Amino acid sequence: MEIQYWSWISISIATLLTCYFIVLRMLNGWYYDFKLRNKDYPLPPGHMGWPLVGNLLVFLKHFLSGHPDTFITNLILKYGQTGIYKTHLYGNPSIIVCEPEMCRRVLNDDLNFKLGYPKSIKELIKCRPMVDVTDAEHRHFRRLITPPFVGHKALAVYLERLEDIVVNSLEELSSMKHPIELLKEMKKVSFKAIVHIFMGSSNQYITTKIGSSFTDLYNGMFSIPINAPGFTFHKALKARKKLVKIVQPVVDERRVMMKKGEEIGDKKDLMDILLEVTDENGRKLEDEDIIDLLIGLLFAGHESTATGLMWSIIYLTQNPHVWKKAKEEQEEILRTRPASEKKLNLNEIKQMVYLSQVINEMLRCANIAFSFFREATTDLNINGYLIPKGWRVLVWTRAIHMDSKYYPNPEEFDPSRWNGYTAKAGTFMPFGAGSRLCPGGDLVKLEISIFLHYFLLNYRLEQINPECPITNLPVSKPKDNCLAKVVKIS
Ligand code: HEM
Repeated sequence: MEIQYWSWISISIATLLTCYFIVLRMLNGWYYDFKLRNKDYPLPPGHMGWPLVGNLLVFLKHFLSGHPDTFITNLILKYGQTGIYKTHLYGNPSIIVCEPEMCRRVLNDDLNFKLGYPKSIKELIKCRPMVDVTDAEHRHFRRLITPPFVGHKALAVYLERLEDIVVNSLEELSSMKHPIELLKEMKKVSFKAIVHIFMGSSNQYITTKIGSSFTDLYNGMFSIPINAPGFTFHKALKARKKLVKIVQPVVDERRVMMKKGEEIGDKKDLMDILLEVTDENGRKLEDEDIIDLLIGLLFAGHESTATGLMWSIIYLTQNPHVWKKAKEEQEEILRTRPASEKKLNLNEIKQMVYLSQVINEMLRCANIAFSFFREATTDLNINGYLIPKGWRVLVWTRAIHMDSKYYPNPEEFDPSRWNGYTAKAGTFMPFGAGSRLCPGGDLVKLEISIFLHYFLLNYRLEQINPECPITNLPVSKPKDNCLAKVVKIS
């Protein structure tokens, strides 16, 4: 009798708890369905997750455990291939779009979508003159600041210096007795390059001072924005403060030089441009804006490039047939070079057809930016589904790059898929699209090409843990940052 009584109690408690969790899990969805009940179109299929946290924990689980694509495949399996899903991430009700035409539509529509990055990113990378401005101001400003690093003519000027940076860095890396973290070392290389391009060689001071501050900033990008000791976001904010302190004297010094009318060289770098530019009303930028922009641009200009460099080397190393073909192309370039020439030139870079396929394939597979974030500025109907005003829209290009419809055997690293192939509109967007298209694309490809030229010809990588698990936040990388030895081949 007694046992029966306790069984009943247990069953009742279990039933109550199950009902409680089911209701709790549905609550978020009901809340938004109720709020939007009078709209003409339904929300896309999907799930709004738990109250307050939404689907963040599920998202983190997939991205941190090295299976980022199952986050989207689970949505497809559950709700069908609609290419548009509702969810709740980073504190916001959100819509995920992962079909080429819809992604293009969002990225090209500045009237109905504005930038909508999570709070953590907005607080860490403040670029007010590029972000919190009207479209016209953004265009005006972008036109003024990008010339130093856009187009082959501008980039040709840096070729020699970039080559020196690469040659010296590789020499140094191969002389190290202990294994190195390849990602960290690639950050040093790409940082030296970007400091040179943005601030001229006079500012090598900044390269030595900055240390790991940018990495701490990077790690905080998709963290939960809690500013309390022990949290990644807190550490990232501290790193940001440190960066401001380092960059401020550099700006002050350049201002003094300009006031004194001192020669700044034959070519203006980004620093000079930032000190001189005016907004559409003729106002110069405040120091705070200049510093924010410099930090933002230095950040954009080296962290993702370093990740691209690391993945290029890993993919080449792990695919010996690709390595062989890429190396043969570089050897051919040397063979056909006139004896009087000793250094790479832009024509030779253009001849690296296979290497450019390797870089494209790396960009597709590594998905350095997995999604771009926008916010709907008005209610919209896309393919019969509602995107409500104020909701975040995640343009999930990663899902397109890894979709077998567009890339057969998408997990396979196969540069030859790019041979004579031009990706259909919206199916290859590693640098985004529309007015926010990354202006650094050509520079990245140039830097990686120069690096791989020397690496393929003279070095090889010995990974210490070739099977090391991958993490995907804030960016995809082996958990050991690719612990390896760079070996010089005699
Ligand atoms: C592999 C390396 C890189 C990748 C994958 C990458 C990717 C991207 C993407 C996807 C965007 C658009 C984000 C959006 O639409 O919300 C973007 C924007 C931007 N990138 Fe890059 N980027 C890389 C390297 C660079 C470099 C080297 C620079 C600078 C020299 C740079 C400067 C910028 C800037 C300034 C923006 C903002 C553009 C605007 O808002 O008008 N990036 N990048």
